Amino acid sequence: MVPAFYTSCVEVINKWEERLKNERSCEVDVWPYLQTLSADAISRTAFGSSYEEGKRVFELQREQAELVMQLIQSVYIPGSRYIPTKKNKRMKDIDREVKAIIRGIIDKRMITMKAGEQRQETTGNLLVWTMILLAQHKNWQARAREEVLLACGEKKPDIHELNHLKIVTMIFNEVLRLYPPLATLARMIHEETKLGDITLPAGSILRLHTMFLHHDRDIWGDDVKDFNPERFSEGVLKATKGQASYFPFGGGPRICIGQNFALLEAKLALAMILQHFSFDLSPSYSHAPHSVITLQPQFGAHLILHKVQEI
Ligand code: HEM
Repeated sequence: MVPAFYTSCVEVINKWEERLKNERSCEVDVWPYLQTLSADAISRTAFGSSYEEGKRVFELQREQAELVMQLIQSVYIPGSRYIPTKKNKRMKDIDREVKAIIRGIIDKRMITMKAGEQRQETTGNLLVWTMILLAQHKNWQARAREEVLLACGEKKPDIHELNHLKIVTMIFNEVLRLYPPLATLARMIHEETKLGDITLPAGSILRLHTMFLHHDRDIWGDDVKDFNPERFSEGVLKATKGQASYFPFGGGPRICIGQNFALLEAKLALAMILQHFSFDLSPSYSHAPHSVITLQPQFGAHLILHKVQEI
């Protein structure tokens, strides 16, 4: 897996280095690159030689997510999804194309790839919020870089070194607290259920707002809104004081099965970025987290990149 992640990271690093070839620093919207990075990583690991087909699936799913959000945000008219509007037709076409590609891949017995189909974007979300927060909190950026350079030097990080990055892990935990890629979890109730005094009929949909829990002052304390990775210095259990209040990867039987995959990929990507670049927020960055299924920076992530030797 690490070689596949590495190939994807090198591609992004090379593109950014190319931008810096003749300049000391330059402005880059890192968000599209980080989206592509996580999609590429999963395409390479899950799809193997079906990499290009995998990429097409992710492009289609990004378009589908936009259409789904437009539907959720519009007035609901019962039965309207059966009307052959342009949008409804496009959504059906996308669904058909994605299914056909996946069917083709499965028929070729290359993979069973339910995981990759859904979740490529979340790692990109984690990385982009991490870069934004580290651009705002240069002390943490410096601490993370120091840790990476001490553990891996300037060479390609290996899996053992990545597993021992403590500051980077604390940073990711705090980023996932403040900006959980999946801000809500939903469950449908299959039979009438009593919850305290409330009776919920079968078919009700319950939503757990991870975002609210992660931003609850009673749980996290007065610095709940601050970026403070230190709170995770002794692990998640200590930070949450043993309460079930931290769900970036969900919980229970449906907990994310890709979390180790995601964290390993994110660690490798961040380690390589820190080895090569230092970064600040650009004046053109506009802070606007918004949910298009996953939590994204609505207007991109404009950062000023510098080559690390020239800090
Ligand atoms: C930072 C990155 C990620 C985050 C924050 C994340 C978050 C989550 C969350 C919150 C759930 C639970 C959803 C629910 O309960 O309704 C979930 C489920 C899942 N995730 Fe992830 N995920 C990430 C990356 C990945 C990756 C990279 C993969 C695949 C390689 C993946 C595969 C899955 C699968 C297959 C499920 C469904 C498990 C089930 O229903 O049994 N995730 N993820």
